[in-house]
Amino acid sequence: MSTKSKIEQLRLKKEEVKKGGGKKRIEKQHAKGKKTARERIELLLDEGSFIELDTFVEHRCTNFGMEKVKAPGEGVVTGYGTIDGRLVYVFAQDFTVIGGSLGEMHAAKIAKIQEMAMKMGAPLIGINDSGGARIQEGVDALAGYGDIFYNNTIASGVIPQISVIMGPCAGGAVYSPALTDFIFMANNTSKMFITGPQVIKTVTGEEVSAEELGGAMTHNKVSGVAHFVYDSEEETIANIRKLLSFLPSNNLEEPPVFEPNDDINRLDERLNKIIPDDANKPYDVKEVITILADDNDFFEVQPYFAPNIVTGFIRLNGRAVGVIANQPKVLAGCLNIDASDKASRFIRTCDSFNIPILTLVDVPGFLPGTDQEYGGIIRHGAKMLYAYSEATVPKVTVILRKAYGGAFLAMCSRQLKADLVLAWPTAEVAVMGPEGAANIIFRKDIEKSEDPLSTRQEKIQEYRNTIANPYVAAARGFVDDVIEPIATRPRLISAFDMLMSKRENRPAKKHGNMPL
Ligand code: HXC
Repeated sequence: MSTKSKIEQLRLKKEEVKKGGGKKRIEKQHAKGKKTARERIELLLDEGSFIELDTFVEHRCTNFGMEKVKAPGEGVVTGYGTIDGRLVYVFAQDFTVIGGSLGEMHAAKIAKIQEMAMKMGAPLIGINDSGGARIQEGVDALAGYGDIFYNNTIASGVIPQISVIMGPCAGGAVYSPALTDFIFMANNTSKMFITGPQVIKTVTGEEVSAEELGGAMTHNKVSGVAHFVYDSEEETIANIRKLLSFLPSNNLEEPPVFEPNDDINRLDERLNKIIPDDANKPYDVKEVITILADDNDFFEVQPYFAPNIVTGFIRLNGRAVGVIANQPKVLAGCLNIDASDKASRFIRTCDSFNIPILTLVDVPGFLPGTDQEYGGIIRHGAKMLYAYSEATVPKVTVILRKAYGGAFLAMCSRQLKADLVLAWPTAEVAVMGPEGAANIIFRKDIEKSEDPLSTRQEKIQEYRNTIANPYVAAARGFVDDVIEPIATRPRLISAFDMLMSKRENRPAKKHGNMPL
């Protein structure tokens, strides 16, 4: 064979692999509203930056006639490229090739890219669209998953790992995404479940559709497994790129800094008016976050799950900051099991990746109820105390209004080593709310009174004036300063600037034993 024809052969071979499962299967994929693996990678990465690896990998299975089955690319496209000029690694399962099912060599391609991402300290994005373990390959397929799970775990906290579900992701296969930092789901086309509707019907008799069981909204709103949902694949991919702009490439780097368009001394009158005079009236804490953020841009994480706590990223003076805030509009901002899980996970994500934490507090307490107690609010709530205490990134807390009891401590109090605690004059730092407190400590006075209702109101006011304000905490130094709400943005920028060189050492240990 001449050199020329060898080169021609190479071209043809590559062309062949690029066709994936062929025209018919690609058409079927498109008809479902789904893109192919290669189209998704094209959209995700900077134009022309994708370099494919392991193009020629083939399966070795000879069971059930598999020796005759061609699987171009082994059902998964892997390689590297850039997003906004930064190196990333990517794999995308190709549903057009044996349903994107995972066999030994498919898994080996993913494991290789995981290991490269870890070695080079660059994010890994995995696009999942697969019928799961390749049934013909038996234990080799299972072992492949095992390797991937192990790599996910070792990479955790080292490089950002982002999973994208754009088709089926069922059975044990769900555990690779579950071990990563963020899960994106495309609406209507993605499904995640351990056991599908058929198995559930056989075992428990329950009838449930695949969408209800494991669709994007189920996991974004009900289970909290996923973090983001968008209607189209294009929108989903655009937001993966946005998320990465807040994250460093690895745990030894800082997140990228952007030249801010916004004025660092911007004052916004709305902040001085946002807290209602009536302490029982709600307001939208997302408005506060948006006002504080550079360019009023708040990138919310898990907006549909446990909306009584708000988590997400903003920039202050061009630097990424993770925000955790109670939402008075939902359950009065109480902490419950789901809110504790959501916040703790987010705190740990920020701490892993050197993203400073801003906590905005307006919390009347932990949500009462038997479902909370039986569900283990004690161990779930403990995660927040643990995650905040463990975090060594700069931590700034602003108490907007209520900061009652254990929930006050859990929301990054000074005692959990917040570096700076600021309070608005509307802050009420106390063991419990004035109404509850008055009922207990002034019970006898109220009972004895000729006009119990007005006595109760007087006592509530007395309690509020004496204890439920920021000045008692400020007098102890638990609050570093009481500030006008309007001044919050410049004060936060100054605070995070001041904290940039923060270093904090902890006793050496293998790892902590976080309550789970
Ligand atoms: C081998 C598979 C496959 C699999 C799909 N295919 N899943 N081949 N192993 N797991 C093949 C199909 O035979 C078909 O081949 C092609 O991929 C496309 O699949 P269709 O069924 O035509 O597609 P669709 O109708 O869209 O249905 C998709 C599906 C369905 C819902 C995913 O294929 C399905 O139910 N697959 C099996 C799912 C499953 O039970 N997986 C094992 C889960 S357990 P042809 O040649 O006809 O085009 C698991 C354990 C992991 O994954 C454990 C980790 C610890």
